[in-house]
Amino acid sequence: MDTVLAKEKKILYAPEISEIIEAKFLTATEKFFKIKLPGGRDLKHIPGQFVQVSLFGVGEAPISVCSSPTQKGFFELTIRKVGMLTEKIHELEAGDKIGIRGPYGRGFDVNAFKGKDILIIGGGIGIVPLRSLINYIIDNRNDYGRLIILYGAKSPSELLYRDELKMWEEREDIEYHVTVDRSDENWKGNVGVITTLIPPLELDLENTIAAIVGPPVMYKFVLLALKSKRFPEKNIYMSLERRMKCGVGKCGHCQINNLYVCQDGPVFNYLEVKGLEEAI
Ligand SMILES: Cc1cc2nc3c(=O)[nH]c(=O)nc-3n(C[C@H](O)[C@H](O)[C@H](O)COP(=O)(O)OP(=O)(O)OC[C@H]3O[C@@H](n4cnc5c(N)ncnc54)[C@H](O)[C@@H]3O)c2cc1C
Ligand code: FES
Repeated sequence: MDTVLAKEKKILYAPEISEIIEAKFLTATEKFFKIKLPGGRDLKHIPGQFVQVSLFGVGEAPISVCSSPTQKGFFELTIRKVGMLTEKIHELEAGDKIGIRGPYGRGFDVNAFKGKDILIIGGGIGIVPLRSLINYIIDNRNDYGRLIILYGAKSPSELLYRDELKMWEEREDIEYHVTVDRSDENWKGNVGVITTLIPPLELDLENTIAAIVGPPVMYKFVLLALKSKRFPEKNIYMSLERRMKCGVGKCGHCQINNLYVCQDGPVFNYLEVKGLEEAI
């Protein structure tokens, strides 16, 4: 094989063996990991981007970075246990090693959002990439207008990042609204799907950016709720999740028509995917 090609391939697909410096369960099914790249090098990601996480002999999966790039020397992931790889990753603790490639994909254009009000709409595990965006905005608070966070989970026990939710609730420069589909005996907040939080919002429509991440079924109803407020379509951004293999635009696994979700996304402007039946 041509040596230049071999070198290029090696660099493209070779993970960097990185160290887990903290690991803790957030819920029964989600585990949080703080990870250090070799030499403590910064990941240099953009909120909304993902990394390919691998365990030797088990497999590899795309996982969104949930920390802000303003954090230096480490980055964070939150991983839901759904199958063989994620089950094995859940067994890892601080001091264990994990393979990392990336960051990959197109994230949220935080520079273009400067000066705008930001409306975050996160459903379930969709709050994971949005936490990166939220913390980036908090760390650059003067660059952005209102920060409105809508977060929905199936039940109170499934809410992630509970310490931070409390902080978001207490800060005067954040408008935080949370809801659960099903309450429990201790829950005193809203009950209902996330779209019930949208009608009461008073928004400066032209100056507000909506960033939406959630399960596929959520997009349809959130888009309907935003449309009924006459929210401009050009101001809506969403992250799409597709099965991926290479993560770098080579294998076609993540393709929707002419788009590769791993490279053209996962964050898209709504106008880019509006007409694609398969996308939403
Ligand atoms: C851009 C991107 C970002 C992601 N970010 C995160 C994250 O931050 N945290 C997290 O926990 N997960 C995230 N995921 C999903 C994660 O990649 C999958 O859960 C993981 O690949 C499952 O691997 P597994 O071997 O454990 O399970 P598998 O055995 O591969 O699958 C178990 C079950 O999950 C389903 N599944 C697997 N992958 C996907 C997928 N991409 N979309 C829908 N269903 C799937 C399978 O159909 C199956 O039912 C992300 C996916 C993408 C594409
Ligand atoms: S995952 Fe291979 S092309 Fe997108």
